[in-house]
Amino acid sequence: MVRDYQSIVGMEARGQFLDMVGSLPDHVAACVGGGCNAMGLFAGFIDDEDVTLHGVEPHGTGEELGQHAATMTYGSDGTMHGFKSVMLQDDAGEPAPVHSVASGLDYPSVGPEHAFLKSIGKVNYHAASDDATMKAFYALSRYEGIIPALESAHAVAWAMDVAPDMKGQSILLNLSGRGDKDIDYVAATFGHGEDYAL
Ligand SMILES: Cc1ncc(COP(=O)(O)O)c(C=O)c1O
Repeated sequence: MVRDYQSIVGMEARGQFLDMVGSLPDHVAACVGGGCNAMGLFAGFIDDEDVTLHGVEPHGTGEELGQHAATMTYGSDGTMHGFKSVMLQDDAGEPAPVHSVASGLDYPSVGPEHAFLKSIGKVNYHAASDDATMKAFYALSRYEGIIPALESAHAVAWAMDVAPDMKGQSILLNLSGRGDKDIDYVAATFGHGEDYAL
């Protein structure tokens, strides 16, 4: 249901990209918390064999349980909130503590369609650390004048990491939200971002 509602984003992105660039993107990427914005975007491209789909999870501050919320990277089969999917869990099968600099990505599971798409190799999943995300947040703000939500900045971080090796290819990123909601937290915690200059 969420995928279908959000799919308008994927359909519009596909149409606008075709109009602006004249071809489909080589890569389409979105951050993944519970998975809604990514699923909506992917829905517009799911039948396009030549488009590679990427979901970007929060790697937080490290790989230990509790330091990240990278469910697709570190999770295992589990049931939470009434659905079976991949889950970060403790030995008793209870949801594990999670962390991300982006509060909207702090979730120890992911919508089951993502687990399915990973299992059939249709979507590639990656994880971006808090540090890489903050670097991307400041870079997009400074160089493009676009303040991304901290959640969305995870996808930007992935793109900044891989783009140098993708010369001649196009990447379409979902900016799932504006960073206005995060700016007070960012300013209070990271100041002008001197530690995250490119
Ligand atoms: C701006 C923004 N993007 C992404 C997300 C992550 O959710 P989802 O993966 O379900 O799209 C959130 C969650 O609150 C959000 O606020």
